[in-house]
Amino acid sequence: MDDSGRLARLGNRAAAEVGDGSVVGLGTGATADAMLLALGERVASGLRITGVATSARTAALAEELNIPLRSLDDVESLDLGIDGADEIDPDLALIKGRGGALLYEKLVAQRARRLVIIAASEKLVDRLGTRFPVPVEVVPLGWSHTARSIDALGLNPRLRLTPTGEPFSTDGGHYILDCGTGPIDDAATTATSLKLITGVVDHGLFVGMADLVLTVDGFGEIGELHQLDRPR
Ligand code: A5P
Repeated sequence: MDDSGRLARLGNRAAAEVGDGSVVGLGTGATADAMLLALGERVASGLRITGVATSARTAALAEELNIPLRSLDDVESLDLGIDGADEIDPDLALIKGRGGALLYEKLVAQRARRLVIIAASEKLVDRLGTRFPVPVEVVPLGWSHTARSIDALGLNPRLRLTPTGEPFSTDGGHYILDCGTGPIDDAATTATSLKLITGVVDHGLFVGMADLVLTVDGFGEIGELHQLDRPR
């Protein structure tokens, strides 16, 4: 099955998680877009929901699809968040942020009673850092010094650039340092070390956050990985 067919199937399955009347975090990226399309169809058929977008790009697509939106500060909490990921380990820890939306994605995910991650099955890895760098969102002022502090942890940061060679700027106006960590032994410790650095706003390690991971394989088969018994 081709990639768009696979994502459409996954998007349909994920959109089925959304109950009538719920407040839903809407993720960012190609996989989340596929879910949004399916959710838009359900809304057109009468499903009543409130969406909280994790990026300007997602907000624009949700508006096109007539999915009602509110800002994170206008909701008490979210019933559910649905988002993509770049890598997923066996404990359902994640790398996110290849699209640059990691900070708003994490803010929304933390307020969701349930976080559902949707991804092609190629994104399952034994250890985080195997295929993708870990994005770290930093304050522009002093970014090169922040990068040195991150480098001192052995995490090999590199400033993310646009195709025209300018620093990539997030929706929050920050820069991204992509860290070529290689396979990470202890994602929770790396996450804590990064957060302690002044200048770091947040990072793309999402540890202990996902409740359910829905995957789609090359044949379009949907897989489910559940994180059981997590206190929220
Ligand atoms: C956006 O910043 C990311 O966290 C995405 O959710 C992640 O990169 C997955 O994106 P794709 O679905 O486009 O692969």
